[in-house]
Amino acid sequence: LERKTNSSPSEPPTVSYYVPFIGSMIEYGMNPIGFLRRNQKIHGDHFTFLMFGRRMTVYLDIDGNDFVFNAKQACATAQDAYNSMTKPIFGEGVIYDAPSSMMMEQKRMVKAGLTVPCFRAYIPIFIKEVNQYVDKHWTKDEDTVNLLQSISEMTVMTASHTLMGPEIRSKLYEGVADLYHTLDLCLSPMRFLFDWLPLPSYFSAQKAHDELDRIFSSVIAERRKHTGKKHVDMLDALMDSQYKNGDALPDKHIGNLLIALLMAGQHTSAATTTWALLNLATNRDVVDEVHAENEARFGRKLGAKNFPEPSYEEVKGFAVLDNIVRETLRIRAPISQILRKVISPMAIPGTNYVVPAGNYIVASPINSATDEKYYKAAEDWVPSRWNTAEKEEDMDKATTDYGFGATTTSARSPVLPFGAGRHRCIGEQFAYIQIKTILYVLLNRFDFSLDPKCGMPERNFRSLVVFPQGPVMCRYKRRSD
Ligand code: HEM
Repeated sequence: LERKTNSSPSEPPTVSYYVPFIGSMIEYGMNPIGFLRRNQKIHGDHFTFLMFGRRMTVYLDIDGNDFVFNAKQACATAQDAYNSMTKPIFGEGVIYDAPSSMMMEQKRMVKAGLTVPCFRAYIPIFIKEVNQYVDKHWTKDEDTVNLLQSISEMTVMTASHTLMGPEIRSKLYEGVADLYHTLDLCLSPMRFLFDWLPLPSYFSAQKAHDELDRIFSSVIAERRKHTGKKHVDMLDALMDSQYKNGDALPDKHIGNLLIALLMAGQHTSAATTTWALLNLATNRDVVDEVHAENEARFGRKLGAKNFPEPSYEEVKGFAVLDNIVRETLRIRAPISQILRKVISPMAIPGTNYVVPAGNYIVASPINSATDEKYYKAAEDWVPSRWNTAEKEEDMDKATTDYGFGATTTSARSPVLPFGAGRHRCIGEQFAYIQIKTILYVLLNRFDFSLDPKCGMPERNFRSLVVFPQGPVMCRYKRRSD
């Protein structure tokens, strides 16, 4: 087989490939992060690769992050890149299926369910859900469990309860969890590549979506009947929302947005929590720091049964847990690639290259986040590198607001697990308090160690969110009271 390249002189160099059309799909699919790093060494920060007939123009490092995240809407859009993949799942008229200005309004409405009073109401729910889960499933004094499965279940319960409300949470065991699962199966890189193909998962997802829609409609109708009873949650926030022109958010959009939020937040948080626990399972010194900080804060030794319920402010102030989440997101950002589809040619500043319309532009912030240029021992998990002194040093290099709950982040930063620009994540603060609270409860109740048979799992690149390769077996041991 002969290696081919197929580049026009005005486009960044094309990665050579053996089979036309398929291009670099196999190499990229097996390990996209390794593929990008290898080609960065050969071609520099910008290059194009072919993947199943699509031309993907990668731009790495902080300039690339800025190029993609801050691309003008008239040049490259997320809607054109993602909608064929997300529409059967989220449904019509929301997020990527809405005109850009409407999507921005929807993001603003969602923020009404992510306020400090909401977070205050969510923390006791997170704690109750995690306690209930482990009381039911982790009944022995010590055991080996599938950590990814357990954490995913805890995340879906905490997220459904707080974002969708107690009514939907109570229906999780009555088939709602299966409907979510059907939607999950459709949200895959395959759907991106084969958006023209009527895959069976597409039709099952549409059916599951319609069924969820029916359930949401009845919950919304029930809430509207009892107008006096206010809930502090996302569903009530959306039911009270209006578009700028005064139109109320239609019930169908409310349901669709709730599904979109669960899909955006569930796997990302579950992957981050699982990676954090796996790293804690091999770093006893960091676990000791968590306990020392908690005991200093609450003024006594905490055990499996006598740990207090922290307030929102206390969760926010858990500095060691904060560093743990931040560091986990640096080396294991669940979303490793960001795409936009080019709709009008884009010149790459400082070069003679122009990315033609029809190409996709790709940023991979995890590439810069794990670059030795920015971090010593960049692939190692070292939460203490986020202690204030080092954080300030990093902030000199990249003008980034790393403060808790940052709502804006410059795209010229090496670490962007929540993206930047108009599509930046609105769930960052929710994710931080959810993950920190789950870790707080679990670390107070259990000690963890890796299962010697499995060790530290590799990354699984087959799904959109980068999970540990399963089965992710881990040992827990109940702590004494
Ligand atoms: C957007 C990551 C949790 C809702 C994004 C983007 C990233 C991201 C990278 C930008 C995508 C792009 O530019 O194409 C994460 C991570 C999370 C997390 C790492 C957890 C650790 C959540 C949660 C929610 C959420 C909990 C909901 C409560 C959204 C929404 C968008 C978004 C609505 C906007 C999509 C857009 O404007 O295109 N997230 N997310 N995320 N995320 Fe998150």
